Amino acid sequence: MKIDLTGKVALVTGSTRGIGREIAHALVGCGAKVAVVGRDQAKAEAVAAEIGGAAGFACDIGVPTEVVALVEGVEKALGSCDILVNNAGITRDNLMLRMKDEDWDAVLETNLRSAFIAIRTVQRGMMKRRWGRIINIASVVGLIGNKGQANYAASKAGLIGLSKSVAKELASRNILCNVVAPGFIKTDMTDAMSEEAVKALAEQIPLGRLGSTADIAGVVAFLASEHASYVTGQVFTVDGGMVM
Ligand code: NAI
Repeated sequence: MKIDLTGKVALVTGSTRGIGREIAHALVGCGAKVAVVGRDQAKAEAVAAEIGGAAGFACDIGVPTEVVALVEGVEKALGSCDILVNNAGITRDNLMLRMKDEDWDAVLETNLRSAFIAIRTVQRGMMKRRWGRIINIASVVGLIGNKGQANYAASKAGLIGLSKSVAKELASRNILCNVVAPGFIKTDMTDAMSEEAVKALAEQIPLGRLGSTADIAGVVAFLASEHASYVTGQVFTVDGGMVM
């Protein structure tokens, strides 16, 4: 059994680095044509060229008109979007007492509103073709909350509610919508932590290690494929068993 996405077009937001880049790489590996999206056109094109089988697009996903233009641009260049992965996300952490309105708005606009706009824009084409896969990247923090992350946790919990509503609205058109909620994933950020801090973190995880970006990409590729054709409205925590 192989994951085969030949002939499918996938759009992955925030795919110039980290988890998004690995997802783009995995989907190309399964045969999809992938739109690599970042804020900087040159960077997006460079990453797309490195991955191969991908094209680069610039978009600030915090700006609704840019998201609509992005989807239109991708569909014109690569064809109708079959797979949408809303991965781009930011943090603006602070305890609530010190959290500014701007930090709340920026996180909600980038992490949650962008996904709503992108889904609303791709859904028309998916409905026509009666096939679509929407995968939203949340976080375990959206399930359990976290001190200093009221805005981020709210945006990720919001993605879960959005995904379940989308799953119900679009199921009759064979458009599936699921959530992947990563735990602690090894990225540039965790690489900068001390060995001791990483060890302390790993001790809270039943599998005893941080996740890799490939651990997330594998689940996303599965959810994008025919093998997941009876799965919608679900949240997949990919966290080494930390939250259960
Ligand atoms: P990252 O910071 O390495 O990459 C985020 C990507 O989003 C970058 O390519 C960035 O350019 C893009 N981005 C941010 N704001 C943007 C905007 N306004 N317009 C366009 N692109 C924008 O993050 P990482 O670690 O790869 O995370 C990816 C997703 O996974 C995020 O949604 C994050 O919340 C989530 N996540 C990550 C975890 C981790 O341990 N790294 C844990 C749980 C969830």
